[in-house]
Parts: sequence; structure tokens; C-alpha cells
Amino acid sequence: MENYKLLIAKKLINNTPLEEAEIVSLITETADDSFGDYAFPCFRLAREMRMSPVQIAQKLASEIKTDDVIVKVEAVNGYLNFFVDRMHFIWDVVTDVIKDGNKYGNDKIGKGKTVCIDYSSVNICKSFHIGHLSTTAIGSSLYKLYNALGYKVVGINHLGDYGTQFGKMIVAFKLWGDRATVEKLGVAELQRLYVKFHQEEVDHPELTEQAREWFVRIEKGDAEAQELFEFFKQITLADVLEIYKRLNVKFDSWNGEAFFNDKMDAPLQMLRDRGLVSESQGAQVVDLKDYNMPPCLLVKSDGSSLYATRDIAAAIWRKNEYDFNKCLYVVAYQQNLHFKQVFKVLELAGLDWAKDLVHVAFGMVSLEDGSMSTRKGNVVLLRDVIDKAVAKSLEIITAKNPDLPNREKVAEQVGVGAVLFSALENGRIKDITFTFDRVLNFDGETAPYLQYTHARCCSLLEKASDWKKSAVAGDYRALDNIETLRLCKLLSVFPQAVKDAAFKYEPSIVSALLIDIAQAFNRFYIEHRVISENLAEQNARLQVVEATATVLKKGLTLLGIEAPDKM
Ligand code: ARG
Repeated sequence: MENYKLLIAKKLINNTPLEEAEIVSLITETADDSFGDYAFPCFRLAREMRMSPVQIAQKLASEIKTDDVIVKVEAVNGYLNFFVDRMHFIWDVVTDVIKDGNKYGNDKIGKGKTVCIDYSSVNICKSFHIGHLSTTAIGSSLYKLYNALGYKVVGINHLGDYGTQFGKMIVAFKLWGDRATVEKLGVAELQRLYVKFHQEEVDHPELTEQAREWFVRIEKGDAEAQELFEFFKQITLADVLEIYKRLNVKFDSWNGEAFFNDKMDAPLQMLRDRGLVSESQGAQVVDLKDYNMPPCLLVKSDGSSLYATRDIAAAIWRKNEYDFNKCLYVVAYQQNLHFKQVFKVLELAGLDWAKDLVHVAFGMVSLEDGSMSTRKGNVVLLRDVIDKAVAKSLEIITAKNPDLPNREKVAEQVGVGAVLFSALENGRIKDITFTFDRVLNFDGETAPYLQYTHARCCSLLEKASDWKKSAVAGDYRALDNIETLRLCKLLSVFPQAVKDAAFKYEPSIVSALLIDIAQAFNRFYIEHRVISENLAEQNARLQVVEATATVLKKGLTLLGIEAPDKM
């Protein structure tokens, strides 16, 4: 595709004191197309050119020569507005998208670079609840976005598989559990035992002591303790793997907290050697007073390590293993302080790559009927949410399109898509309330709406399935209208949206653009008949349809959502 900003910059270069790259960076797409297609603000030039921005814009407008592509220049309130030849632009975008196909939006910018993404990171013995939806959806989308930009991506599930709670689990299991039931009911049974432990512990403090002893036995590698822990781990993983499969989420590493258990000595020694570690009531800490943070606790007075210690060891290990250019931690904002402390300690240790560690924080998800807590046991399981969304999708699809083949499969794609999209549609940091009616609204700003629009494109292309072979060339004057222009403008900024989404860690940049595209397409579709006896017009419009389908599908794929051809 033509680089229009560059074309415009070349026109300005001799008449302004700025460098080409700077001009390009100042040019923006206009929000309102009555002001042209691209705008160049003149404010930045006022001092050097000793004129007001209004005068500069007028002067430049009179000096600049238009051509076949940039057809008109106008000065408005200190802005220079450029008009691109509509047909040239539309045609350029459409052919470009069709040429690239499902590679449209890809880039080589990340070639030779590695990004580690720590996401989902489930806890052993705990059920996969809706609180894990955002990290899973956002992390998985970032994985796909960076991949599309040519990066090598390492997806890490930093398992929560270490801690005193596993001692409690063993005690609870030995007292009240049995293998057959756990095998049958899975994590739900482990969860029940865990909750019971906390209830019983209140009246039986000796349980706490027993749990502590079992935890020590796990740490020491005692065979029975290890075997039981492994059993719990396999039960939990079987449960989450099934969900990951449905969500189409993958990991390259499952090295979690326990993996770092025997890898903390060297990092701790390094921190001591650099004079960062001090004693505080028998514990070893890094004082962070100067940075307005509480001390980072590394070793407790009983010698045991902490979450932060393992994260410090993990970061160092990852740097050695993957030599990442960036390491992202997709974790709820409740852990803001934890990551600030860990990153600060690594920075104070003189590790210059500490600046490449990024906490990608996000807000809470709750269901319309209240939030949840693992201890009390009233969790909302992600599986239940997905199942319900799929069941409701099936109802809607059956009502809309009773003859659809593979209805179950499509309902799964739509239900799963709706759930994932709910975590990707808003800026990350926002708390969200999940409502089935809203996420499944086929006319709302939802995944089903995007999927439906994509399927509508596919059905148009299918209806005229011979159009590509047809000898009738497209009559491109059929595209010379504002609806097509607006749609094509949105298609043209998709590659930039992919980059912005990756570099700002905001998949919502892509999801918002897709909604705009679907809305623009539906306006185009209402105003202009695609399937028509006038094959020349039809064939031109079908190219716009094909380009739209391509971008919608690609965008959905980058969000981890499938795009069925029929719905
Ligand atoms: N398992 C933790 C939780 O559920 C998240 C772990 C995030 N990753 C990390 N390296 N700390 O809260």
C-alpha cells in the first residue's frame, strides 16, 4: 500500500524546516472526513517560521502542488488538510489486503527478538475461575500479536505449585478425601477439601501444625508427600488443559514456582554480595524505603523463601535461558506492589535488563451476581461460564438459522469468542462486570457481532462464488462513495493497530478497530447492493467484501477468537 503520510511529507519537506521523519510523525488521519483524509498541524512550526500557525497553514496551502494522488490541500485553523484521490485510495487498500490475505498486518519488526509472556499462571489445587479469564485472554492475544510482528514468543505458565497450602491439602486429603472421588470430581473435590480444612482449622489448631509438617516434607522431597502433591498437580492440570484447549491457548513453558525452589541460592547470594540484603526481625529483606515501598521480603525467619524470591530467581533464569528483549507479566493489578518491588530489586542489583520487565496489569472480572473468594468456596468456574455462553449461543443460532450444519461447533466458537472478547474489549485496567446478555448480543459491540459480520461477508462471496473467474472486470466507479471510503480507511489502519496493541499491551486497540470495521461494513452493505445483475459493479464491491472478511478474520484470530464462515 502507498505510504500516504510519506507522500505528503515529501511535498512539505522543501517548504518547512523539519526532517521528513518528523513530518510523517506529525501527520494524522482525520477523524472527520469533511476535513480531508490526512492533517498536518502547523503549531510546531510557529517559532522557527516566525508566523502564526494559521498563517503558516495558509502559506503552505498556496505553495504545495497537488497531483493525481494527493488531489487537494486546504488550510483550516492552523491545520493543513490533505485530500487523497478516493478511487486511488480505495483501490490501493483493497488490493493490498487481498494480496496479503491472512498475512495482512504482519510485520518483520520483531525479527531476531524474543518476548517472554508470563500469563494465565494457574494455581495447583485451585479451580480455574473467572478471575483467570483476563490474564488468559490478554496474554494469549499478546502472544499472537507479537508473533504476527515477527517476534519469537515464549509463553510461560508460571504455575502456582509451591507453598504451605499444599501441606494443608495433604492433611485434608488424608483426613476426609480419597483418590477415587478426587479422580472423579477433579479440582472441585480438591477445592472442597481445601475449604473444609479452613473451616475445621478454627476449632482444631493442631491441623495447622500437621499441615506445616507436611509442607516441610514436600520441601525435603519426602516420597509420600511428593507423590500426593504430584497427584494433585496432575488433577489440576487435566482440568485446565481442557479449558486451554477450548480457548485455543498454548504455552511453551510450565516452569512455575516449584521449579525455582533450588535456583534461589545464587540470586540471593548475588543480592547479598551487592550489599542489598539486610536483616529485619530475623528475616532477610531488601530495604526499599528510598523508593517509597515496603521492604521486599526474601527469606523468612524460619529460612523459607517467598513469592518475590521465586520471581527474582525466575526473572534471572528467563534472561539466561531466553535472552528476552522484553518479559511481560500479565497479572491483576492487585499485584502492582509485588512487581514494583521485584523489578526494583533487580534494578538495584545492577541488572540493566530490569527495564525490560513489564507488569501488564488488568482489572477485575465479576459476574453480575457478585464476586467470589476461593476460601469461602463460592467461585464462579470459567468452565461454567463458557458452557453457559455456548448453550445460549446454540439457542440464538438455532433460532436465527435452524438449518445451519455443525450448529454445535459454531455455538462453541461463538460462546467461547463471546467470553474471550469480554476480557479484550476494554482498556485492560478497567474492572468489568460480565453479563451473558451483553456479551452474546449479536447486534452489540461483541464478538458474535464481529463473527456474524464476517459470516455475512463469506455468504456474499459464496453467493457469487464464480465472480473471481468471471470475465467481467470490476467497475470501480461503484466504489466511489463515502461508505466505501470510510470502510477502507479503517482497513488501512489495521497494521498500525496491530503494532499499537502489541507495544501498548492493549489487545482492545484491535478489538475496537474491528467493531468500527464491522459497523462501517454494515453501513456499506445497507447502502450498496453487493449482489446485483450489474456484474461489473458487483465484482468491484465483492473485492471490498473480501478485504473486509480478511481483516475481520485476521483480527479475530489475533484476539484468539475463531471466525466461522457460516453462522
Ligand atoms: N499464580 C499467581 C496468581 O494466580 C500468578 C503468577 C503470576 N506470575 C508471576 N511470575 N508471579 O495470582
